[in-house]
Amino acid sequence: MPTSAPHRVPSPESRIPVLTIDGPSGSGKGTVARLVAAELGWHLLDSGVLYRAVGLLALERDIAMTDIQALADLARDLPIRFEPTADGVSVRLEGRIRDHDLRTEEAGTTASQVAAIPEVRDALLDRQRAFAQAPGLVADGRDMGTVVFPHAAYKVFLTASVQERAQRRHKQLMAKGVVTILSGLLEEIRERDARDSARAVAPLKAADDAVCIDSTALPVEQVVAIVLERVRQRG
Ligand code: C5P
Repeated sequence: MPTSAPHRVPSPESRIPVLTIDGPSGSGKGTVARLVAAELGWHLLDSGVLYRAVGLLALERDIAMTDIQALADLARDLPIRFEPTADGVSVRLEGRIRDHDLRTEEAGTTASQVAAIPEVRDALLDRQRAFAQAPGLVADGRDMGTVVFPHAAYKVFLTASVQERAQRRHKQLMAKGVVTILSGLLEEIRERDARDSARAVAPLKAADDAVCIDSTALPVEQVVAIVLERVRQRG
């Protein structure tokens, strides 16, 4: 009989400081994560991009949403590369920069469909955990604090009312010259929230040890300041 407990390999995230920022679409977590990572000089993981990339390539390759094996294989061998730029990170998919295509509402909706498949989520786990590199990582998504980095030193859950989130998205799209109807966006966001929260695996929810911030009435700079203060307070 062994006399001591078996040796446990430390999970990568336990040695590297990780800040997780989870929340629904449009809560501002992407912007907050980018600004906080720049301020701390830490790496950045926008995990939604991985699901968007799987969804986009599945559409382009005509892979049916019911073909679990093909979707999981695609997720495992995702031909994606992240390249640092002056104001964040650019995404190269199959060798081509695809930032714009990945940001469309269609890519978001397809992402949320493939994200409900446990085999796809599983296939993306190691890739996400590999982002935990010195000096630290800011990771944003839906399950960063609950599933991917459960031992993260700092966890934030960012929310905002659905009306405010739809308005923010509407403004963003108008600024890019994309004409959209606010009520349609509101409906899409509601549907995506429902799918993300109701799925059986890694649903959108705050980790028990996350700090919840409601950004409905807060400018992004103030949210960034609150998050940075939390990280610096705890050292
Ligand atoms: O954050 P973003 O809007 O880019 O995410 C797109 C979709 O990817 C989400 O609606 C969600 O279904 C899925 N996602 C996820 N888990 C994550 C990040 C994103 O399920 N960690």
